[in-house]
Amino acid sequence: MRTKIVAGNWKMNNDSSATSALLQELKKANQTSNARRIVAPAFTQLAQAVKLLEGTTIEVAAQNMNAATSGAFTGEVSASMLKGVGVATVIIGHSERRSLYNETDVALAEKVAAALSGNMEVIFCFGEELSDRKSGRHFDVVSHQLKTALFEITPDSWKHIILAYEPVWAIGTGETASPEQAQEMHAHIRSLVHQQYGETVTTSLSILYGGSVKPNNAKEIFSQPDVDGGLIGGASLNANDFMAIVNAF
Ligand code: PGA
Repeated sequence: MRTKIVAGNWKMNNDSSATSALLQELKKANQTSNARRIVAPAFTQLAQAVKLLEGTTIEVAAQNMNAATSGAFTGEVSASMLKGVGVATVIIGHSERRSLYNETDVALAEKVAAALSGNMEVIFCFGEELSDRKSGRHFDVVSHQLKTALFEITPDSWKHIILAYEPVWAIGTGETASPEQAQEMHAHIRSLVHQQYGETVTTSLSILYGGSVKPNNAKEIFSQPDVDGGLIGGASLNANDFMAIVNAF
């Protein structure tokens, strides 16, 4: 069974008081869908978010982690540190990490392996740049990202993987992939995983779409057969917008 999921990637937004205000609003909001709701605040707000959401169904994820378990890695955070504050899900491979912090698919494979061995769930992001799409290489680029970062993991590990296809040209730009473009790529991704791992893995794999998902386009995107939800940036910073997206199934 594929789970419906809406995850909010807050990026470097929301200090302590903004976190508390937004989470209070989310706690009060009415959920009419059965989607999993996940919020990903900055590292400094994780413990606070976990505490504020205790006893609710809203889950907390981190936006990044280091592949090492400990050591001389100034400014970095390990899987066990995240687990220690009650966070069991981590976003890995966001396009901003790839482009601004030079995270390669090989480095991301190490992070995925570390997250899995630390018993964490991974939301793995990938997607092509505009130039890839314009030159018709988008399927190849996405296949390569997926294979390099994820095709060494065991079939059993896929229970702990959520994929997030995020075409870079649609992130924060207000431009979304059309529902047809999203569906076409999601079907491609699902068939790649199927070829490598077979039916059991594929039928329970959730593939989220990310890139300018808003209340006014979520329903159409989520209604595509291979789209299981969304990874939301900008619109996740507003409780009404986020909940409208959560309820768009
Ligand atoms: P956006 O961001 O919804 O603001 O386009 C999506 C993301 O970066 O995950």
